[in-house]
Amino acid sequence: MRALRYSTFGPIAEVLRIEAVPEPQPGADDVVVRARFVGINPLDWKLVEGQFKLFAKGRPPCGVGAEFAGEVLHVGANVRDVRAGDRVVAWLNPFAEPPRAMAEQVCVPVTQCVPIPDGVRLDVAAVTPVAGLSALQLCEMVGARVGHRVLVHGAAGGVGSLVVPMLRARGAYVVGTGSAGSQAFIRTLGADAQVDYAMPTTSWRGPFDAIIDCASKLDPATVPGLMPGGGDIAVTLPSFPRVIFDPLMNRFRRIRWHTLRLEPNARELAQVLALIAEGKLTVHLTQSYPFDRAVDALAESRSGHMRGKVTVAIS
Ligand SMILES: NC(=O)c1ccc[n+]([C@@H]2O[C@H](COP(=O)([O-])OP(=O)(O)OC[C@H]3O[C@@H](n4cnc5c(N)ncnc54)[C@H](OP(=O)(O)O)[C@@H]3O)[C@@H](O)[C@H]2O)c1
Repeated sequence: MRALRYSTFGPIAEVLRIEAVPEPQPGADDVVVRARFVGINPLDWKLVEGQFKLFAKGRPPCGVGAEFAGEVLHVGANVRDVRAGDRVVAWLNPFAEPPRAMAEQVCVPVTQCVPIPDGVRLDVAAVTPVAGLSALQLCEMVGARVGHRVLVHGAAGGVGSLVVPMLRARGAYVVGTGSAGSQAFIRTLGADAQVDYAMPTTSWRGPFDAIIDCASKLDPATVPGLMPGGGDIAVTLPSFPRVIFDPLMNRFRRIRWHTLRLEPNARELAQVLALIAEGKLTVHLTQSYPFDRAVDALAESRSGHMRGKVTVAIS
């Protein structure tokens, strides 16, 4: 079968190749899935470039990709709840196991698979483990609720495009920021208002009760002015010493800082899929690349200005 792989860290256009590799065989608690769609996330190319080489499990030679959807081909001897032919979405945690979703067949523990409800497309399901669960966990971190005024910084990206409709579904008033070129897209997400982040923060329609910084680009010095009454801010990129000290200091602060450290789980993933199936959450897929152009999909993500979610169609 074919799989996208690299044998040395480096620039994606130089080191990534589609290779012929043996078909995976399931262990007793595993399933092998015929992958149809793979979701693209910034972590995919960051790993290839070696940005997390101290922490990630994937060391070259290695595959690419942390989320995918398709049909089950084979199940291991202990697997009872999933059968060949079932439509499933699954995740791989690159900090616990090598990434390998960008392949015609993928073997995963059955505990990392969730059935896809009827009416939810495979390509839509494929992008839910990372961005969908990040959005859910970010909304929980800031305690988003009815009437809250929430600023979503970097609203047009994969995570932001799911945070905005999730907040609206919770009854929050949402202001999304984006570049000048993203303003119309943010409007389609259902934000109550959108602002160009190039404008001074004093014109961002605050004050806010909470901030979700999807891009982790907000200048911390601007946060007290945006949330003069205090509140919660959640960011997507961990930084030292924030991840150590924020949990200790938050109880003494008016502005509480939280950092997302995504740990996908089947219960929350099923929750996100149910929201989609019930029509309460719309996933904005803006582009699908064929497998042969997977590197172009990763390059689009690497540009830093992706709108909504992008997939690679495997077969
Ligand atoms: N900690 C975790 O567990 C975790 C989980 C998921 C994601 N993440 C991280 O979260 C970040 C966002 O992920 P994503 O999937 O949403 O990425 P993405 O799809 O690539 O979107 C990035 C967005 O950032 C916006 N942006 C670029 N420059 C900006 C700036 N100066 N100010 C504000 N926004 C700016 C872009 O919007 P414009 O085009 O409008 O500029 C773009 O839409 C990535 O760094 C990712 O690695 C972390």
